[in-house]
Amino acid sequence: MNTQPPAGSLVCVGIGITLGSHISPLARSHIETADVVFVAVSDGLVELWVQRMHPDVRSLQPFYQTGKPRMQTYRQMVDAMLTEVRAGKRVCGVFYGHPGVFAWAPHKAIETARAEGYRAHMEPGISAEDCLYADLGIDPGTRGCQHFEASQLMYYRRRLDPSAWLVLWQIGITGDHGQNRFSTNTAYLQVLVDVLARDYPLEHEVIAYRAATLPIHPPRIERTTLARMPHLTLDAADTLAIPPATPMEPDPVTRARLAALDMVRADAVGT
Ligand SMILES: C[S@@+](CC[C@H](N)C(=O)[O-])C[C@H]1O[C@@H](n2cnc3c(N)ncnc32)[C@H](O)[C@@H]1O
Repeated sequence: MNTQPPAGSLVCVGIGITLGSHISPLARSHIETADVVFVAVSDGLVELWVQRMHPDVRSLQPFYQTGKPRMQTYRQMVDAMLTEVRAGKRVCGVFYGHPGVFAWAPHKAIETARAEGYRAHMEPGISAEDCLYADLGIDPGTRGCQHFEASQLMYYRRRLDPSAWLVLWQIGITGDHGQNRFSTNTAYLQVLVDVLARDYPLEHEVIAYRAATLPIHPPRIERTTLARMPHLTLDAADTLAIPPATPMEPDPVTRARLAALDMVRADAVGT
């Protein structure tokens, strides 16, 4: 009996955010040695750069269309990659940032390929989140850090912890509910402000952040208040970061339990 996996394979790689400087040697090697490369990246310049690494680079960008349901776009991307995997090709999907961060298609493509018996895996990349920690000087371990998709935060009741950082992705398309719109407006952003105002004072600082996609550009770091947030000019590459607004609240009950355990351990060590 043949126990070998079928010939086709899939790897989804991330090439980071800043053109040319974030790609890992492993990601580059997967691109160069694939039979077919699919690419979904932040701008045309990045796509041209990937094209220089392989003679058969196919853009997934044309699947995006205003008004087309986002899920339909993503499924078409998955289908495009899987068609070549099923044809026995070594397929490399190239995504900007980290291919598994706020990115449905790479996860789904890998899951589907594996379910059909093909070899498939993901190589991490430097995401916008990584750049944000570096540019804003945030250590997520200090106060904790919550990440949400901006629209999801409005459509669902989530429990925010204002003593930690809050990072809102896709702030530039706030209000999009899967219709693949490419912008937002002050009315949608005001709804988001009203939701956030349940946990944050209106005068609290918020930061519009955009990591540099070209090495010659500085990052965008624009500070304003929550109340004024709807007046920010935002695009699809912006992320909103909200610093902690309250101190961390000590938990006396759990502290007492831990102290009791410390005593038991100290006694055991002493005997
Ligand atoms: C579909 S997600 C893709 C994220 C990507 N996979 C990553 O790892 O960064 C798009 C969102 O990522 C964030 N993003 C993308 N490029 C960015 C940049 N240059 N600076 C800051 N955030 C960015 C924004 O919140 C944007 O709406």
